[in-house]
Amino acid sequence: MKRLILTSSLALGAAMLAAAAAYNLAYAHDSLTVAAPPKPPMGGRLLNRETAPLQPFAVPPADAALSQRIAAKGSPSADDQLLLRGAYLARAGDCVACHTSKGGAPFAGGLALASPLGAIYSTNITPDKEHGIGDWSYEDFARLMRTGVTRAGYTVYPAMPYPSYSRLSEEDMQALYAYFTKAVPPSAQANRANDIPWPLSMRWPLSIWRKLFAPTPTPYAAPAGGDQELARGAYLVEGLGHCGSCHTPRSTTLQEKSLRDDSSRLYLSGGQVVDGWSVPSLRNEHGGGIAGWSQADLVEFLRTGRNQFTASFGAMNDVVEHSMQYLSEADLNAISRYLLSLSPRNDAAPYRYDEVSATAAYEGRPQTPGAALYLDRCAACHRSNGTGYGKAFPALAGNPVLQTGDATSAIRIILQGGRQPATDSVKGGLVMAPYAQLLNDQQVAEVTSYIQTAWGNRGGTVSAADVAKIRKTAKPVEDRAP
Ligand code: HEC
Ligand code: HEC
Ligand code: HEC
Repeated sequence: MKRLILTSSLALGAAMLAAAAAYNLAYAHDSLTVAAPPKPPMGGRLLNRETAPLQPFAVPPADAALSQRIAAKGSPSADDQLLLRGAYLARAGDCVACHTSKGGAPFAGGLALASPLGAIYSTNITPDKEHGIGDWSYEDFARLMRTGVTRAGYTVYPAMPYPSYSRLSEEDMQALYAYFTKAVPPSAQANRANDIPWPLSMRWPLSIWRKLFAPTPTPYAAPAGGDQELARGAYLVEGLGHCGSCHTPRSTTLQEKSLRDDSSRLYLSGGQVVDGWSVPSLRNEHGGGIAGWSQADLVEFLRTGRNQFTASFGAMNDVVEHSMQYLSEADLNAISRYLLSLSPRNDAAPYRYDEVSATAAYEGRPQTPGAALYLDRCAACHRSNGTGYGKAFPALAGNPVLQTGDATSAIRIILQGGRQPATDSVKGGLVMAPYAQLLNDQQVAEVTSYIQTAWGNRGGTVSAADVAKIRKTAKPVEDRAP
């Protein structure tokens, strides 16, 4: 009996760890559709891009094949409308990012989500009757989406963000169900068993985790009065968008510390490291958050992956490419207004540009080895005064990435480079080449410390040891190109 208890509590602890790790590492995968590597832009092309006006707001079809099928039939029926709505909601929930393996059929599952105990594989959610969810009833589907309990009765790993999806309205749940059971092409791809060995693979501890940490689901009901746009923004961010799964800090048992803004200011306050990238705060605060951004700046970032302050990278590229670029102008405005309504948690003084480092650089007398490296290696694109080139090469002066105590993202992007997401409105994703082969740990530390503190930036300095740690898992961006 004692041994049983011991084994059970061991299994419980381990499974919690697995659940937690899966939750945390849910996004540790390569991005699905990597744009063909564009040539680093030079001269004229760069200027064209910089001055080219953003295309007027147009939303790419959430599911192009479905839209074409329906358009070919003539006027859409009520059922067609439901399917189109479901396709849109599937984009808002970014189901494709986790439920599609590299090069695999959409939604056929099989993407490995890393955990220290072994890989967890996402499942086939196409309408295939044997391997997918083709014979799930609406009740089966809604129960899984709200409580994480599958048709077979076990609880899924919270890598599947059901605590957020539990907020879906009944109407939207119906539309999603219709889309996944009637419009998505079935795939007979078999599910892969997780690589976690027994007894750690036992599922029952996951139901304990669920009871402890997943809220009792309360389907969303739109408030009768009040600000409808703000309510819509909250619905999308807290629910389908599951922004908090990356942007909210987690406890040691790895549940999000808050699932909604009205329960705590920890909500969306940043601080996690996902897939090796530090995730910033989305609250309206200075020093790493989005204070100073207008609603239009936010909409532009979500739609195109860039704006005048920063360019998207890491796990956020997937969010922009597979999800946000498909949302309507009204929904992106609602999301942005909601984020800007979040009161500060770790506010700092507003950023102020400081001329000193730019003047020294301009006069050709860099003050530190890091400043000299910067002039040599980086200033061609980011400029000696740190202001970058429009929306082509992001400004580093005042960039939110360089204002926090966590330099993980800054170090990583220097080591492995970065590719801006390719979207319907901004086609070729610009690339920053990796420096892992060109600079040693000490040099990367020097240049990082420089950009984190030059031009009034407040990110602080880093050491060669900090760089060495990140270098171990750095994957140069070119290696990921198809
Ligand atoms: C962050 C990654 C992630 C996202 C985003 C995600 N899922 Fe999942 N989902 C998973 C994983 C992983 C599993 C399997 C977990 C397990 O086996 O314990 C899963 C399981 C499921 C299952 C259970 C399937 C079965 O055969 O038991 C369904 C249904 C499902 N997801 C639907 C969706 C839908 C619909 C969306 C979008 C609204 C979505 N998922 C978004 C990771 C994700
Ligand atoms: C899979 C993890 C993940 C999810 C889910 C996610 N983000 Fe992000 N987000 C990141 C990472 C990593 C960064 C840092 C890289 C960057 O700035 O692009 C980031 C950055 C951002 C930024 C830039 C903020 C700044 O100060 O530079 C905004 C805005 C943003 N995310 C909005 C959202 C919204 C809105 C959602 C939900 C619809 C969301 N994110 C969901 C990972 C995620
Ligand atoms: C060929 C032009 C080019 C050069 C040279 C270059 N970068 Fe970049 N840099 C970019 C582009 C493009 C991005 C956006 C990449 C992305 O979004 O993934 C970027 C992004 C960044 C970012 C993240 C900022 C953000 O908001 O996305 C940092 C930090 C950075 N570069 C630092 C450096 C440093 C330090 C050097 C020199 C060692 C350097 N860069 C050299 C083009 C360049």
